[in-house]
Amino acid sequence: MEMDRIWLVANWKMHGARARAADYAYHINAALASAPVGLHAVFCPPALFLDACARALPANARLALGAQDCHEAGEGAFTGEISAAMLAESGARYVIVGHSERRAQGNEPCARVRAKAQAACAAGLKPIICIGETQAEYEAGQTAAVLARQMTAVQPLPPGAYLVAYEPVWAIGSGKTPTPREIERAHAQVKSALGSAVDVLYGGSVKPTNIREILACDGVSGALIGGAGLTQEGMQAMIGAASAQLRK
Ligand code: PGA
Repeated sequence: MEMDRIWLVANWKMHGARARAADYAYHINAALASAPVGLHAVFCPPALFLDACARALPANARLALGAQDCHEAGEGAFTGEISAAMLAESGARYVIVGHSERRAQGNEPCARVRAKAQAACAAGLKPIICIGETQAEYEAGQTAAVLARQMTAVQPLPPGAYLVAYEPVWAIGSGKTPTPREIERAHAQVKSALGSAVDVLYGGSVKPTNIREILACDGVSGALIGGAGLTQEGMQAMIGAASAQLRK
C-alpha cells in the first residue's frame, strides 16, 4: 500500500542519561535530513532530559520531542507529577498517555487516560494514546472488546489532534508480535471506530528486522518503538526502512 506519512516514535522509558539522550537527539535529527518529508520522528526521553534534548536540536529540527506521560490537572498539589504545560515548556510536542506499563500500575483507568489526553491537547501537545490487550485477554479472544473499551479514552478529541498506538501488552519487550492479519484487524477496528483519518501506530517488539513487514500492514501509519530505539544504530536502521517504504 502506498503511504504518504509514517510516524516513528522512540520511547526510551526509564533508560539513558542526559548527555546520551542529547547526543541521540542530535544524531537522529541529523539522520532525518535526507528522509522523505512524510517521515515524522518523535523522541520520548525521560522528562528530565527534555530540556537538554531541546537544546541539542537546531531550530528547524525534523526530530520532535515527546514525553512518556503527563498529569491530567493543569497544576496543583500532586507531588512528583508533571503537567502537560510543563512538558510543552521543556520542548515536548507529543506525549504518550495510557501506556500499558502505566496502566499496569493500577491508577490509569480509561477515564484518567481520557483526562490526560484532553490536558495534553489543551497544552498544545499531541497525545499518543496507547491501547492494547494483555496476554490473557488475547488468549480469551477479547482483543476487540478491550480495544473498544479503551477507545473511550479517545472519543471526545478532535481528529488530527492525537495519534493512537495499538500495543498488545504481550508483545511489548517480549520479542513476540501479532501476525500481520491480527495487526490489520486491530487497526481496521480502530479506524472504523475513530475515523479513517486517524493515524494508528503499531507498538510491541518492533525492530529493524521486522519493521518493513509491520509498516506494510494495511492501516499501520507507523511504529511506537521501545527497546530497539535505544541505540542510534537501531533507530537509524528503522528510519532507513521507513524512508524506503515512503519512497515505494
Ligand atoms: P518494545 O516496547 O519495542 O520494547 O516492545 C514498545 C513500547 O512499550 O512502546
